[in-house]
Amino acid sequence: MTEKDFSSVSYTTLKEEGVVTYSSPSNIALVKYWGKRENQIPANPSISFTLDACTTKTKVHYKKKNNKNGEFSFDFLFEGEEKEEFKPKIKTFLKRIERYLPFLKDYHFVINTSNTFPHSSGIASSASGMSALALCFMQMERSFVENMTMEYFNRKGSFLSRLGSGSACRSIEGPLVQWGESKVIEGSSNLYGIKYPYDVHPIYDNYHDTILLVDKGEKQVSSSVGHELMHGHPYAVNRFAQAGTNLDKLKAVFSSGNLVDFISIVESEALTLHAMMMTSSPYFILMKPNTLSIINSIWKFREQSKTHVCFTLDAGANVHVLYPESEKDVVFPFIKEKLVPFCQNGQYICDRIGLGAKKL
Ligand code: PMV
Repeated sequence: MTEKDFSSVSYTTLKEEGVVTYSSPSNIALVKYWGKRENQIPANPSISFTLDACTTKTKVHYKKKNNKNGEFSFDFLFEGEEKEEFKPKIKTFLKRIERYLPFLKDYHFVINTSNTFPHSSGIASSASGMSALALCFMQMERSFVENMTMEYFNRKGSFLSRLGSGSACRSIEGPLVQWGESKVIEGSSNLYGIKYPYDVHPIYDNYHDTILLVDKGEKQVSSSVGHELMHGHPYAVNRFAQAGTNLDKLKAVFSSGNLVDFISIVESEALTLHAMMMTSSPYFILMKPNTLSIINSIWKFREQSKTHVCFTLDAGANVHVLYPESEKDVVFPFIKEKLVPFCQNGQYICDRIGLGAKKL
């Protein structure tokens, strides 16, 4: 599908008012997206596990406006309370997606949203938040047209989510979603994420992600700034090529279930992401001392226990601990005893691979 496919919808009816609700998960990248061009076009392909427990629930009441004043009109509530400070972000999102959803200025919206994960846990809520809102608008659009295929709904939902936050486009479906043009993935696109189209070994069924909340504070450097710093970065060209190679290698790892190779790709991707931050100009470090203590403990335990526990990181200090269902009885007690003490206030989230967004 091309960009044009997402702007040429003709509506049969525009309802007076209604309510739509979606729950959409967060995701954790295995091959990381870091660096972009205009309009959230990724500099390299990425792939992620869709999560299950970390979700945003968004309910949108919409009502046709009496006076069409050519402005966006909405109230925004987070966990039941009006949040003025979130409104500029939503407005920017509405501006970016208006050309694909031309009805947006005809309505007043009341957007009610909440997260299942603790507020300011350092878990990025932009992927789940932007995708949940995009899907509410898609559900509206679906009710304005005669027939909309599930494929179109998911593709456009992902396309719109991308315009809110790049990685959000990987939250619509599950369990594995790939985004960004790649010669090795048929149907891949820079415009939206697709459900990974090849065989996946059952070892990845129910794969666990225990998220260790090392630092719940606001990040010193936002993802947007981090992406920006990849322009002119001395290692950018090689890094973007490496992501493509790692995606290619993962293809074999997904079909064979070779967890040793899985670990070496996933951990290398996490450390490379942070290496890019540390070698940007200006440079910055998002890991904390406890992030490193956790990584070292995981390496030591993996060696001793002969399990396949590994880690990945997003753009922050928190650690995602990944392990197969078949090893949970050995790995989880280790996490609780040895890793949770490194978490801020002992906080962690038990998540696992999930199937994507749900209409409520
Ligand atoms: O979607 P953004 O712009 O917040 O960027 C997310 C980038 C990483 O989480 C670090 C990597 C990824 O692919 O999700």
